[in-house]
Amino acid sequence: MEKKEVSNELQELLQTLEQQTNWDGRRLVKYDGFWLPEIAVRPIFSAQRYFKAKDSDIILTSIPKSGTTWLKALVFSIANRNVISIDQSPLLTSHPHTVVPFLEFNLYLFQENPHLQDLPSPRIFTTHMPFKILPDSIRESECKIIYICRNPLDQFVSHRHFLLENKIEKDAVPLDIDAAFDLFCQGIHPFGPFWDHILGYWNAGLKNPEKVLFLRYEDLKEDITPHVKKIAEFIGSPFSPEEEKQGVVDQISRLCSFENLRNLEVNKNGYILKVLKNSSFFRKGEVGDWINHLTPAMAERVKDLLVSKFDGSGLIF
Ligand code: A3P
Repeated sequence: MEKKEVSNELQELLQTLEQQTNWDGRRLVKYDGFWLPEIAVRPIFSAQRYFKAKDSDIILTSIPKSGTTWLKALVFSIANRNVISIDQSPLLTSHPHTVVPFLEFNLYLFQENPHLQDLPSPRIFTTHMPFKILPDSIRESECKIIYICRNPLDQFVSHRHFLLENKIEKDAVPLDIDAAFDLFCQGIHPFGPFWDHILGYWNAGLKNPEKVLFLRYEDLKEDITPHVKKIAEFIGSPFSPEEEKQGVVDQISRLCSFENLRNLEVNKNGYILKVLKNSSFFRKGEVGDWINHLTPAMAERVKDLLVSKFDGSGLIF
């Protein structure tokens, strides 16, 4: 398939899509019911067309600021523990986002159809795409999907800090937190609405628990050990009794902990894609920080939203 063909198709599509400006000035485009950052539309379109999942692939998915960086570090370390020793981990010298690429923000951003076939197995990729927007082969192959979600109040606060710190639209004057929160509650935010994003993966996991592992940031924070083991089992590589005795689970947990990653030189300095500060992916790493930024009325609004949107799904926040 040729680049031109994709571009023409995209041009035509873009003309029909609803658009909005996020509170920080970045453009959002509504595609298949979700607000995608404009910059991600073309790469997503290319990934949908060209990405061919292998059964051995592991696809990490999330809405931004839900713990993606942590999940990348964990899954990379778990999946590669027999190939790379922990004290030689690339995570010690490279940012987790460099070690595990995004489909839409790395691989398909720069190339229409990057050559990914020969990457060593298991290939690990990340995406913020909602479940229904994933390339067909991800849904249809035997590859594994690991989703991480987070309390939307903390996710909103985290994203607000992140976007303010990595201001891209130089002339844009960001809206205040009340207006930004109002957009959020309307579902107008990158990869939103958050309730549909979460529900898509929740339902997929209920339907096929062998295929989709649904994780919550808060659960990992509460006790990482069972989750490291759960991820290993899910990807078909459980820890042996010998490994457990040697403390491998703890070593991986420690390597990927917020404190450890945040204090590495590579994560304190430098930029991703020349614009996103490496350090901005490691802010507080806490549960419940929303309380310092949002009012009880705002929290109530999200609670009511979740009760109505998740009604009958079995999903409780
Ligand atoms: P805060 O802004 O609340 O601190 P993402 O990785 O999806 O971009 O999400 C970023 C959020 O996860 C930030 O939350 C960040 O601090 C937190 N985070 C990053 N690495 C982490 C880790 N190893 N353990 C726990 N939280 C982490």
